[in-house]
Order: sequence, then C-alpha cells, then structure tokens
Amino acid sequence: MLKRNKSPHLLSARDLTRDDLLDLIDRSRYFRDRVETRAIPQILVGRIVATLFFQPSTRTRLSFESATQRLGGTCMGFSDPNVSKAGGEWRESMADTARVLNGYADAVVIRHNEVGAVNLYAEESAIPVINGGDGRGIYAEHPTQALIDLFSMEDDFGSLDGLRILVVGHVNQRCVHSLLLFLARFSDVAVFLVTENSERLSEPEERELHSLGLAFEYVEALEDVIERVDAVYVIGTKNPNDVAKKLVLQSEILNRSAPHTRVYHPLPRGIELPPEIDNSRKASYFRQVGNGVPVRMAILDRLLVSTH
Ligand code: CP
Repeated sequence: MLKRNKSPHLLSARDLTRDDLLDLIDRSRYFRDRVETRAIPQILVGRIVATLFFQPSTRTRLSFESATQRLGGTCMGFSDPNVSKAGGEWRESMADTARVLNGYADAVVIRHNEVGAVNLYAEESAIPVINGGDGRGIYAEHPTQALIDLFSMEDDFGSLDGLRILVVGHVNQRCVHSLLLFLARFSDVAVFLVTENSERLSEPEERELHSLGLAFEYVEALEDVIERVDAVYVIGTKNPNDVAKKLVLQSEILNRSAPHTRVYHPLPRGIELPPEIDNSRKASYFRQVGNGVPVRMAILDRLLVSTH
C-alpha cells in the first residue's frame, strides 16, 4: 500500500503487490472465521472510520460500517453529499474536506463520481484513505470490490495462478479495471472478455495490462469459451434493464460449463444475471457479497493496526 504523506492509503489496485494481495486474502479468511465463531478481535476500539459517499451505495458503505463496528470501532459520515458542505451549493474542495476530517476520524472511505477526486483528497489526508469506487471509464477504480472478487475466487479454487476467467458485460467499469490489475499479479491467468465494441477497455489500459503480462482477448460470444473457463465474472451494463442478448448469462449456456465453474457478480445485478441461476451450485455471487465484511475488516486491520 502506498505511503503518501504520513499514512498508507488504498487508492488503486496498482498500490498492492502480489504479496500484499496474498496477505490480505489470508487476513480475510482469518476474519471470516472469527465472524463465524463470534470471536472477533476488538482491534478498532476507540477508532473512528468516516464514510464519505458522494454516490449511492449499499454494499460498499454498509459493509465498511459493519466491518468497523464488528471490530469495535465507530462510524460517521454521509451517504448523500447534499447533506454536507462537500456537496450542494458549497462544494467545499476535497483538499479542505480532508483537512477537516484529519481531526475527526482515523480513516476515511470515499466513493466519488469523478476519477481523481479520491486522490486529491488523499494528498491532504493525514489519515488512511480508502477508495470506495471512483468515477467511470478510463482510470476509474474500485479496488476493495476487486479484492472481494479475488478472495472469493481464491477461496473457491485454492489458487489464482492458472485461472481462466470469462468477463462478460460492459467491461470498461471501475471494478473490472481493478480486478484485471490484480489478476495481472498472478501467473498464467487467461482472461476472455465478451462486451460490445463501444464498451471495450481503453487502449492505454490494454497497453498497461499487456505490459504487466496479463493475457486477455476479446471473444464474440459466451459460447465460444464457456466450456474452458473456471470463473464467469458477470458485470452489469449502463442500463440494467436494457442488456444486449449476448451479454446475458442464460442458464442453458452456463449448463455447458465444467462442473467446477463458478459465477461471480459484484452486484447489484440487472437482467444480465437471471435469477434462475441463483439456485445453481455454480452461483458464487451471494457468498462473494458475504465476503465483503471480512475483506474490509482485513483492509482496516492492514491500514490501521498491523501496518507492516
Ligand atoms: N458492488 C458495489 O460496489 O455495490 P454498491 O454500489 O452497493 O456499493
């Protein structure tokens, strides 16, 4: 995790090495076990985590708040910038908002509609800043969601090296950007992308992924590779109710996959992931969303407590 000013932050998937990722996966498993046995170490007693959400969220904000409180800490913040001076007619700068929060909290989780806003905030932050999803399109990221995705896949398959993953939907989205950067840290990963031509990754991103050694290719249809993949990562589109047919994971297509194949989705879903798949043993997405709290506990532990 990068050190900027005096604090480590989690702003981009680029901040994490392979060793960081394996460490966070181990910590996530540890915290999941502790949650299941109701023996949660109270490592955040006396600490405050602020959640500043300039865009709506169910999973990211509430799972960070749950993680904090389960670890003995407390939370404050806003889920709508218009109830604060950071939005509305004031639009106080990110830098000034950071200078204020430096005295109020011990860590900050931010979601923002603009790429770069979280980084601007971090430049003035004396406390750890976590990117809870910023912007759209090129350079937009959602590293903590991608960490949940990565942990869920590692948990299902035992290793990420050698994984063959099919990503279907509008792939030029923040959680996909972060996930691909993480997958590039592992060996012999093969990624297949099914999308619309207008929704492909940007050329700079493709160049970066190639330079990191990630093997990826676009394929026309799910049917072209469904029999050869371990993981199917379904992602929504700009309009959840208007999805091109080729981006819908029909159960008859999933039935052609290998018995060990598993399906992931960061949620919320649109019509690209039909509910009839929910009862399939291949559906991992509700286990995946359940991993949100232990993964975010692991991130808070790493940034606030075990900073090595
Ligand atoms: N997956 C995800 O980021 O969900 P929210 O938008 O509800 O936080």
